[in-house]
Amino acid sequence: MTMAVIEAEGLTRRLAGEVTVTLVEDATLAVHQGEFVAITGASGSGKSSLLYLLGLLDRPTSGRIWLRGDETSTLEEDTLAGLRLAEVGFVFQFHFLLPEFSAQENVMLPMQRLGRLQQSEIGARPSRSRGRNGETSEAAFGWAKPAGCDRSRTSQ
Ligand SMILES: Nc1ncnc2c1ncn2[C@@H]1O[C@H](COP(=O)(O)OP(=O)(O)OP(=O)(O)O)[C@@H](O)[C@H]1O
Ligand SMILES: [Mg+2]
Repeated sequence: MTMAVIEAEGLTRRLAGEVTVTLVEDATLAVHQGEFVAITGASGSGKSSLLYLLGLLDRPTSGRIWLRGDETSTLEEDTLAGLRLAEVGFVFQFHFLLPEFSAQENVMLPMQRLGRLQQSEIGARPSRSRGRNGETSEAAFGWAKPAGCDRSRTSQ
């Protein structure tokens, strides 16, 4: 078996307050290259909280996460941000697009930050992330009221 792309051991996330809330408790898992994994469970059971940990958006209260074999718990915020940008793809339940920017600019921002492509190549890409039939509702209607499906495609 190949090395796990992502591996977690004993992941626990608690929120301390008047009452301590446990979002994730003792989760251990490994995902290998090419595997397609779904995390299922009742609403409120902690799926998103677990994915925030695995996506390096949140830090566990205890437990460890390895990304391609590298342990992540001691990494600085900037390093984690770089890993999220280069290694992790997110499709959020809520889309978190930046309203100040057009759909095209939202798509281009991460590519610009990565600096792997020429500006002209970046400009050619957003159209590929649009609808299968090439819908361009932004072009037709502006970005004031994009439909949910437009937001979803753009955020991916
Ligand atoms: N910041 C927070 N403060 C307090 N409780 C929280 C916080 N974030 C999550 N929770 C609670 O932790 C639990 C797990 O939430 P989470 O969003 O991970 O569940 P989920 O499985 O993704 O649910 P859904 O299927 O509805 O998306 C829920 O009971 C939620 O109310
Ligand atoms: Mg959720």
